[in-house]
Amino acid sequence: ARILQNNAAIIRRRVGVPLEVVRIADLDVTRSRGIDLAPGVLVNDVKQVVADPHVDIVVELIGGCDFAKRILLDAMESGKHVVTANKALLALHGEELFAAAARKGVDLGFEASVGGGIPVIRAVTEGLAANAIQSIYGIINGTSNYILSRMTNEGQGFAENLAEAQRAGYAEADPTFDVAGTDSAHKLAILANLAFGSPINFKELYTEGITHITPHDIAYAREFGFTIKLLGIAKLVDGEVEARVHPTMLPADSPLAKIEGVYNAIQLVGDAVGDVVLVGRGAGDMAAGSAVVSDIIASARHLLKGGAGRVPPASFQQDQRRPLRMRPME
Ligand code: HSE
Repeated sequence: ARILQNNAAIIRRRVGVPLEVVRIADLDVTRSRGIDLAPGVLVNDVKQVVADPHVDIVVELIGGCDFAKRILLDAMESGKHVVTANKALLALHGEELFAAAARKGVDLGFEASVGGGIPVIRAVTEGLAANAIQSIYGIINGTSNYILSRMTNEGQGFAENLAEAQRAGYAEADPTFDVAGTDSAHKLAILANLAFGSPINFKELYTEGITHITPHDIAYAREFGFTIKLLGIAKLVDGEVEARVHPTMLPADSPLAKIEGVYNAIQLVGDAVGDVVLVGRGAGDMAAGSAVVSDIIASARHLLKGGAGRVPPASFQQDQRRPLRMRPME
């Protein structure tokens, strides 16, 4: 809402018409959010958003799976475009949601689901669409990278840094998702789906987080010229997808080793383009908001053109299936 307000003039020029925040549903409608909202915009019943005929685009940012899925399906059923940042939901129910979007001819925007403010979903589905993607190496959890960076640079312990990441608004409601690697596995499943055209169940991925990494590990790694990073890795090996999440020792001068704090980085290799590295803020309200508003703008443009929604990414249409190779470490 803040971005839509602060950048209203720019967005109006880019879309052609102004965008209006019609309703925002939240459990707490009394807390001040530091933005001007017209009376009646803030409501505590989500039905007032989904059922409102004046609402063209519904944005789901509540997290969790059951209720969030219901909201998105109901909104799409009534012909509205939807936007979500919910990586867990897409990793678990992406096929069903994209099938609903295709059936109803509406957009399901999900740029904010991976990499925070980094436009990595568009990079994989549009900018690199000419390429057969060979591999993805990514720092795709801002909280873990923040913790590891501070353990490396400031020498503070794990718990203290996690509390900082929570205060900064980077961590998930349940931060176990961040530090146990689950959030990275959700995001890797989405990226691998898009890149390799193959549905991947994140539960099948080897997933190891950073909870057991100690300052000693970091110091020893450094002594040998390595930096420890939590990586999501997916690559094609003999026609199979190999995908996993785990802390990895990277040569200290490699591009991903230098990514610090809440920043994320995704290194993709395409057969035509070669190496591409995307870097940016991977978590936090304004970074995620940047991606969410980009999807709102895309759908607003579609609405104005009167055309059908965006074509769902191929893999979510189940056009191909590749075996998932389980291999824990290299
Ligand atoms: N908790 C997530 C992270 C938020 O730290 O990366 C962005 O998806």
